[in-house]
Amino acid sequence: MQNGEIIFNRELNAGYFHVSFYAPEIAAKARAGQFVHVKIANLRDRILRRPFSIENADPATGAVDVVYKVVGEGTAVLAECKSGTVCDLMGPLGNGFSDCPEDATPVLITGGYGVAATRLCASARQGGILLAGARSANDLLLLDDYRNLGYDVRVATNDGSAGSKGFVTGLLDELLKANPGRKFAFRACGPHPMLLALAKILPDAGYPEAELSLDHLMCCGVGACFACVVKLNDGNGGWRFSRSCSEGPVFLAKDVYTGE
Ligand code: FES
Repeated sequence: MQNGEIIFNRELNAGYFHVSFYAPEIAAKARAGQFVHVKIANLRDRILRRPFSIENADPATGAVDVVYKVVGEGTAVLAECKSGTVCDLMGPLGNGFSDCPEDATPVLITGGYGVAATRLCASARQGGILLAGARSANDLLLLDDYRNLGYDVRVATNDGSAGSKGFVTGLLDELLKANPGRKFAFRACGPHPMLLALAKILPDAGYPEAELSLDHLMCCGVGACFACVVKLNDGNGGWRFSRSCSEGPVFLAKDVYTGE
């Protein structure tokens, strides 16, 4: 645990914020796909922590960045926190994404603010493809950051207010059809239904090692409470529970159980 003093906390799009904490010990160790568990200052329920994917971590400055959406009391209180406010951070936690192999093109598939969880993949290995899905244009975040890292950014929105109208899986379908047999390294984060769809599509398309971040409801964040269980294949046609906070949140697509 370490104190994380807020360096800045600003709104990106309506309802979405970017907060930067000064937390050098976490910044020195963080990897793409890991998360921090934050006890938010000024919150009435001061016991519970909230998990946030690490969007960026800079060992040189000690900054650990998070992008979040205001979805409840905790994030609403966080959105009001000013520079200089100190929160209590645990992390980096969880098993993140592995490095993309040199001979594969990175393809990051994201839904909504899942785009924050893959941002460190893009800075670790510049140049690749981002397939970004969102409900509408207001829910698209960080796209210029990816462009600045040499990414070919392709967008789909449910309402057609930006990019093609539809789901990010439509963009994936086009990519796979246009590039049969190409060596891609897929990394993904987004809503659970999107990830379950990818867990079906990508192994069938020849990418069983695609990595999916199954961000899930979390409580303790360290494997003690079983609040965050997800279903994985058990190897016998059934499933077993796995704790996404400690065994994940990143799992291989071939391991994710996609049955009922
Ligand atoms: Fe407690 Fe994962 S959040 S076991």
